[in-house]
Amino acid sequence: MECFVERADVLTGVTLWGYFDGHTWLNMPEYAYMTPAYPLPFDQKLNPKWAYWGMVDSSVLPDESEGLEILEFENPQATATYVEEVPVIDGEKDACYELCEEFTTHNQITFPFDGTDPAEATYYVAWKDNNIYIYIYTEVVDNELNHDASNPHQKDSVEIFLDENNSKSMMYEDTGDGQYRVTYRGVFTFNGKDRDTDLEYEAIKTDTGYAIEWRITPQSITLEEGYVMGFDVQVNDANEYGTRDGITTWAGVTNNNWNSTTEFGDLTFIK
Ligand code: BGC
Ligand code: CA
Ligand code: CA
Repeated sequence: MECFVERADVLTGVTLWGYFDGHTWLNMPEYAYMTPAYPLPFDQKLNPKWAYWGMVDSSVLPDESEGLEILEFENPQATATYVEEVPVIDGEKDACYELCEEFTTHNQITFPFDGTDPAEATYYVAWKDNNIYIYIYTEVVDNELNHDASNPHQKDSVEIFLDENNSKSMMYEDTGDGQYRVTYRGVFTFNGKDRDTDLEYEAIKTDTGYAIEWRITPQSITLEEGYVMGFDVQVNDANEYGTRDGITTWAGVTNNNWNSTTEFGDLTFIK
């Protein structure tokens, strides 16, 4: 509780999805493959758990000497690699991406109702000196491609998130924060100010799903070796009924990337 009070100036709310483990949607039959799940502050018999005391009075918590492990939230780290030869934005994977590190959207934020894994993307980021662009290649494995939903984020699509000054702000700033989305059929939408400026992208179908290649222009900074930017990649996985039932991200954990940059990871520009 103290930690909420201390941060009252920046918190707009604290939400718990229920209060005791005997009554959580995670234990409903359709989510059986995710159980046992004990996510709430009171256990099935309504006894307060350490999570409850952590919120109400952390002084009663056991310490590390008593076997309690303090988990630190580590910001996911990715790299953008310097390349001599910049890629052609045509959806095909240029040789330069082989020089870049490979990252995956391994955070499963929501799951398909049938218990299968949501679609993931593998991605690579490249850049070049005296060149204002960030080049990104995202490859999605998805055997059910669907474009029926009216909301673009419910169609099979990939999203890129930038926080150019890496301020990890609670809300998007007017300058430098953006959400870019391209569906597997190449329909582009965005959030943030003027994020459609000087942008190139191409979507193609592949044997295992689809790929989207991007050339994005940061608006407020100059790329240079060592620069660190807030960054994330998200996959929206639509099912055959035209509903998004799967979301995966590289960094974010709560599906709030579209209006807050706090959960973005760090992207370092390296040579
Ligand atoms: C989120 C949606 C949100 C949309 C807004 C997506 O990244 O997953 O929940 O409504 O962005 O653009
Ligand atoms: Ca290409
Ligand atoms: Ca899909």
